[in-house]
Amino acid sequence: MFAFTLLLLLLPLRCVTARVTSSPSDIDGETYDYIVVGGGLAGLTVAGRLTENPSTSVLVVEAGADDRENPEVYDVYEFAVALGAGMPLDWAYPAEEGRTIEAGRTLGGSSSINGATWTRGSKAQYDAWADLLELSEASVGWNWDGMLHYMKKAENFKPPTADQIAKGAESIPAVHGSSGPVHSAFSHGMYGGPQQPAFLASAVNVSGIVHCPDLSAGEPNCVSMTPCSLNYDDNDRRSSSAQSYLTPVEGVRTNWVTLTQHLVTKILWANTTLPLVASGVEFAEYTNTTNGTTRYKAFARKEVIVAAGAIRTPALLQLSGVGDIDILSPLNITTLIDLKTVGKNLQEQTSTLTAANPTNFSADGTGPNNVIAFPSLFQLFGNASDEKIAEINASIPSWAASQAGHGYSAAALETIFRAQADVIINDKAPLIEMFYITSVAGSPTAVISNVWQLLPFSRGIVQIASTDPFEYPAIQVNYFNVSFDLDVQTAGLKLMRKIYKAPPLSELSTGEILPGPLVPDDAEGGSDADWEVWIRDVFTSVAHPVGTAAMMRRELGGVVDAHLKVYDTVNVRVVDASIFPTQLSAHLSSSVYGVAEKAADLIKAAQ
Ligand SMILES: Cc1cc2nc3c(=O)[nH]c(=O)nc-3n(C[C@H](O)[C@H](O)[C@H](O)COP(=O)(O)OP(=O)(O)OC[C@H]3O[C@@H](n4cnc5c(N)ncnc54)[C@H](O)[C@@H]3O)c2cc1C
Ligand SMILES: *[C@@H]1O[C@H](CO)[C@@H](O)[C@H](O)[C@H]1NC(C)=O
Ligand SMILES: *[C@@H]1O[C@H](CO)[C@@H](O)[C@H](O)[C@H]1NC(C)=O
Ligand SMILES: *[C@@H]1O[C@H](CO)[C@@H](O)[C@H](O)[C@H]1NC(C)=O
Ligand SMILES: *[C@@H]1O[C@H](CO)[C@@H](O)[C@H](O)[C@H]1NC(C)=O
Ligand SMILES: *[C@@H]1O[C@H](CO)[C@@H](O)[C@H](O)[C@H]1NC(C)=O
Ligand SMILES: *[C@@H]1O[C@H](CO)[C@@H](O)[C@H](O)[C@H]1NC(C)=O
Ligand SMILES: *[C@@H]1O[C@H](CO)[C@@H](O)[C@H](O)[C@H]1NC(C)=O
Ligand SMILES: *[C@@H]1O[C@H](CO)[C@@H](O)[C@H](O)[C@H]1NC(C)=O
Ligand SMILES: *[C@@H]1O[C@H](CO)[C@@H](O)[C@H](O)[C@H]1NC(C)=O
Repeated sequence: MFAFTLLLLLLPLRCVTARVTSSPSDIDGETYDYIVVGGGLAGLTVAGRLTENPSTSVLVVEAGADDRENPEVYDVYEFAVALGAGMPLDWAYPAEEGRTIEAGRTLGGSSSINGATWTRGSKAQYDAWADLLELSEASVGWNWDGMLHYMKKAENFKPPTADQIAKGAESIPAVHGSSGPVHSAFSHGMYGGPQQPAFLASAVNVSGIVHCPDLSAGEPNCVSMTPCSLNYDDNDRRSSSAQSYLTPVEGVRTNWVTLTQHLVTKILWANTTLPLVASGVEFAEYTNTTNGTTRYKAFARKEVIVAAGAIRTPALLQLSGVGDIDILSPLNITTLIDLKTVGKNLQEQTSTLTAANPTNFSADGTGPNNVIAFPSLFQLFGNASDEKIAEINASIPSWAASQAGHGYSAAALETIFRAQADVIINDKAPLIEMFYITSVAGSPTAVISNVWQLLPFSRGIVQIASTDPFEYPAIQVNYFNVSFDLDVQTAGLKLMRKIYKAPPLSELSTGEILPGPLVPDDAEGGSDADWEVWIRDVFTSVAHPVGTAAMMRRELGGVVDAHLKVYDTVNVRVVDASIFPTQLSAHLSSSVYGVAEKAADLIKAAQ
C-alpha cells in the first residue's frame, strides 16, 4: 500500500516535472505544443518564456550534454580552456583556409563557453533591420527601441561597486535591465592595475575616439570599460542561458522537457503543399562516441522553432528540404521550398592578436578583461576618410556582384550593402574592435590587444555536403573576399600600433612585439602590403557568425519574415543569430537574447 502510494506520487512527477534528460524513452512519439531545436542561447530563452504559461508544453532537443557543473562552463575565468577542435564542448566548425568557427556544443550553447563580454551595437544598426523588411512589417518593432526593450527584459544588471568604480568601471544604469534572468556585472577579479585605464587613455590620445561610460547604450563608437554576463552575487558564476532561464525553474515547471545528447536530424512535415506545415522533428542519439542509428520522433501541436545557431540552423533546413534546389538536388533531397538563400549571406568577423613586451607592472586582478575601443571609419582612416567613403560608394555595385551568385542576386546585395554603408558613414558605426587583454589563460601579465574587423562586406555560404545529419556542413566564409574588409583590418592594426606607442600605455611596455618586426614599422606604421601578408597568415575567425537565415524581405534574400517565420511555412520559425540580416558592431549575446525575448512575445501573441 505504502509502495503503491509512493509510486503514484513519483510516477507523475517523473513524467511531468520540468527536467533535463538524455533518455528519449518517454519522449519518442510524444506530442508537445512547441519543439525547440537547440538548447543554446536563443533556444533556452524562448523555451523559458513559453513555459511561463503552465498550459504550454515545450520540448527542447539539444545535441550537447548538460555540463552546467563543469568549471570550464560555469567559471568565466576559464574562458577558452574549452575551445579547440576535438574538444567536447566546442563544435569547432571548420571553415576554409584552415580556420575554425567555435560554437558551444553543450546546454546553453555558445553562451556556456563564450567570453561573456557584454556590449551592444549602434542604434542605427538595429534600425536598419526594419528597413530591410516590408514596410508593412515596420510596426513589429525590429529597431533599436524594440530591441532595447527586449535586451533589457533579458538582463539583471548590477551597477559597479565603489571598488570597481575606483578601477575605472562606469555604466548608464538606465540602458540596462534590472529584473531579467541574465546577470551582468563587473567581476570581483576586475583588474585594478594601470593597464586598462592606460589603454583607454592612449586610445583617446591618438585616435580622437571619445571615452564614454557604457558600450550598451546604442552609441558604441567610443572606448569604455564594459561588464560581463556573470553573477557577482554568486561568486562571478557565468550567467549562461541555461543558468538564467532553465536552472531557476528546473523541477518547478511541469511543462518543459529538455532532451540532451540528441541531434535533430530533420523537420517532419505534415504536408508537402505550400505553405508547409511542420508536424514535429526526427532526432537521434549524439555523443562523442555515438552517432545513433535509431531515429526517434516527437510531434509539435503548434510550432517547430529552429535555434541551432547560425551554422547548424541552415543545415537543418536544407536537410529538411528547405533550401537552394541546386544544392539539394545533387544530394537527392526533395526540395520542398526552393528558398535559395538558406545558408547564404553568412557574415563572420576576423581577428588578429597583437602584443607589446610588458614592463614589470602589477595587473592587480584576475579579470575577465574589461576595456574595449570601437573606432569608426573616421578614426581609422583620418584624413583619408573622404577618399574611403567615395571608394565605398563607388564600389558597392562591384562588391555586390562579386558576392552574389549561388541564388543570391547582386541587386539584393546592393540594397543591403547600401544600408550597411549608411550606418558606417552616417552613423559612425564602429568598424573595428580593439579588445585589450591583460593576460592569456593564466600566463604572466602581458600587454595584448585583439584587433578585429566587425562589419565585413564579404558574404559566405553554409551548405550541407551530404544527407548525413552528423556530418558538419561545408562553410565558406569568404574571408577578406571584398578588399575593403582587409583594408579595415589593416587600418585597425596600424591604429593599434600607434596606441602601443602613445603614453600612458607606452610606459607599460618596451614596445610592440607582435607583429613587431614581422611587419616592419615606418612613418606610415608599416606598409599595407606587409600588413596584408601577415593578416592573411595569422587571422582567426571570431565566432560571431550571423545572417544564414536572414530576417528580410523575400526579394532581398530573406529566409524569415518579421515574425521569424520561414517563408512558405505555416509554423516553422528561426530564433537565433541566423536571423540577423547584418552584422553588429558588438559582442552578440545581448542582442541574441533580445531577439529571443522578442520572438517569445511574437509566438505568444500568435497563440
Ligand atoms: C568562443 C566564443 C566566444 C564568444 N564570446 C562572446 C562574448 O564574449 N560576448 C558575447 O556577447 N558573445 C560572445 N560570443 C557569441 C555568442 O555567444 C553567440 O553569438 C550566441 O550564443 C549565439 O546564440 P545562438 O542561440 O544563435 O546559438 P548557440 O548559443 O550557439 O546555440 C545553438 C545550440 O544548438 C545546438 N544544436 C546545433 N545543432 C543542433 C541539432 N541539429 N540538434 C540539436 N541541437 C543542435 C548547439 O549544440 C547549441 O547548443 C561568443 C561565441 C563563441 C563561440
Ligand atoms: C565525452 O563526453 C563525456 C561526457 O560529456 C566527457 O566526460 C568526456 O570527457 C568526453 N570524452 C572525450 C574523449 O571527448
Ligand atoms: C496542407 O496544406 C494546405 C494548403 O496550405 C492546407 O489547406 C491543408 O490543410 C494542409 N494539410 C494538412 C494535413 O495540414
Ligand atoms: C541520387 O539518386 C540517383 C538515382 O537513384 C543515384 O544514381 C545517385 O547516386 C544519387 N546521388 C546521391 C548523392 O545519393
Ligand atoms: C617585479 O616587481 C615586483 C614587485 O615590484 C618584484 O617583486 C619582482 O621581483 C619584479 N620582477 C622582475 C622580473 O623584475
Ligand atoms: C590631417 O590633416 C591635417 C590638416 O591638413 C594635418 O594637420 C594632419 O597632420 C593630418 N593628419 C594625418 C594623420 O595625416
Ligand atoms: C556615400 O553614401 C552615403 C550613404 O549612402 C551618403 O550618405 C554619402 O553622401 C555618400 N558620399 C559620397 C561622397 O558619395
Ligand atoms: C559521426 O558522424 C560524423 C559524420 O559522418 C563522423 O565524422 C564522426 O566520426 C561520427 N562519430 C562517431 C562517434 O561515429
Ligand atoms: C573571391 O572569391 C572568388 C570565388 O571563390 C575568387 O574567385 C576570388 O579570387 C576571390 N577574390 C578575392 C579578392 O579574394
Ligand atoms: C597624451 O599624449 C601626450 C603627448 O603625446 C601626453 O603628454 C599626455 O600625457 C597623454 N595623455 C595622457 C592622459 O596620458
